[in-house]
Amino acid sequence: MDKKLTVANIGMKFGMSHIEGAMAYGAEIAAICDCDKEALDFAGERYSVPEKKRFTDYKDILNNKDINLVTVAVPDQLHKKISCDFLKAGKNVLCEKPLALTREDLDEIIKTADESSGKFMVGQICRCTPAFEKAKELVDSGAIGEIYFIESEYAHDYMKLVDNWRSDPLRHGVIGGGCHAVDLIRWIAGDPQEVFAYGMHKLLPAVEYDDATIAVMKFDENTAGKVFVSTGCKRDYTMRTVIYGTKGTIICDNTSPTMTLFTVDEEGVTKEPQTIDVTVNSHNAAKEFEAFADAILNGKPVLTDAREGAKTVEVCLSIVESSKTGKPVKPKYAF
Ligand SMILES: NC(=O)c1ccc[n+]([C@@H]2O[C@H](COP(=O)([O-])OP(=O)(O)OC[C@H]3O[C@@H](n4cnc5c(N)ncnc54)[C@H](O)[C@@H]3O)[C@@H](O)[C@H]2O)c1
Repeated sequence: MDKKLTVANIGMKFGMSHIEGAMAYGAEIAAICDCDKEALDFAGERYSVPEKKRFTDYKDILNNKDINLVTVAVPDQLHKKISCDFLKAGKNVLCEKPLALTREDLDEIIKTADESSGKFMVGQICRCTPAFEKAKELVDSGAIGEIYFIESEYAHDYMKLVDNWRSDPLRHGVIGGGCHAVDLIRWIAGDPQEVFAYGMHKLLPAVEYDDATIAVMKFDENTAGKVFVSTGCKRDYTMRTVIYGTKGTIICDNTSPTMTLFTVDEEGVTKEPQTIDVTVNSHNAAKEFEAFADAILNGKPVLTDAREGAKTVEVCLSIVESSKTGKPVKPKYAF
């Protein structure tokens, strides 16, 4: 295909970070779209996108031949419809997380992505977060031996965010936000085979779903994990993550300039901890766009394809189900 990436960005709130990611890469912004004219024009002025390239209806650019890549950052409930429409038009699509909110929608996106001539990636941003990339590199290099326990938390106060589509019970906090922690754990430790969860509801009276959930999970007989999701927490946004291995431990998050690595000496005794400097960038849109561009232009594997995105949501759905039924649930990964 043409080596030039010509991009349409749909959804002009968080979606503005996709414009910045595309611009940092040197791609051309061929169109921007938001059904809210005010949001559209705000972004248009901010990024100097001419009026003729601003659209309030994405259908007007579905078959625009000047566009070969589309980023989708609209309410989660619309991910499937808009992504599938562009995939059917043969465009490469980078869609925000979570991939979708129901198993039916996950299946439909996978099928449409399989049939499309375009590539598809879901933006699980933790895979582009400097501290988590470093943690993954350390684990893969054997620096902490074999993982026996991994935990991650998604702590984000939604108090000011739940007067809209985020209050939809389908968009449970574990799926909408907790998918970050679940995806990070899956990326580093693999697929949990069973989950068990408790839900709490003390902080966000405006939503029907639990605003805090704790889930434990089993990977194999000797490896376990834990995810804590709080969408009403009284603290700054962060994702504290600890990875315990047989030869060391990593403590990191996405909002601190350092992470900690414990390793052992020849006798297996824990050494003084090392402090590793990392860039703070919890929304590394430039890296995310670059990864997708590399897949499109250079044939690299897509960082998080539709099946990967679906497996993460499947674990989230299993956690929600367990918290409601009080029973352990085995995620089904047969996508
Ligand atoms: N990766 C991350 O860390 C991260 C952070 C924030 C949001 N997100 C995701 O990004 C997406 C958008 O979130 P947000 O915070 O920007 O939400 P938002 O509600 O603030 O903004 C959504 C925008 O989409 C527009 N929109 C709605 N329907 C549309 C349609 N049919 N066509 C065109 N535009 C439409 C709205 O007018 C609005 O401007 C969500 O999927 C969310 O989960 C991801």
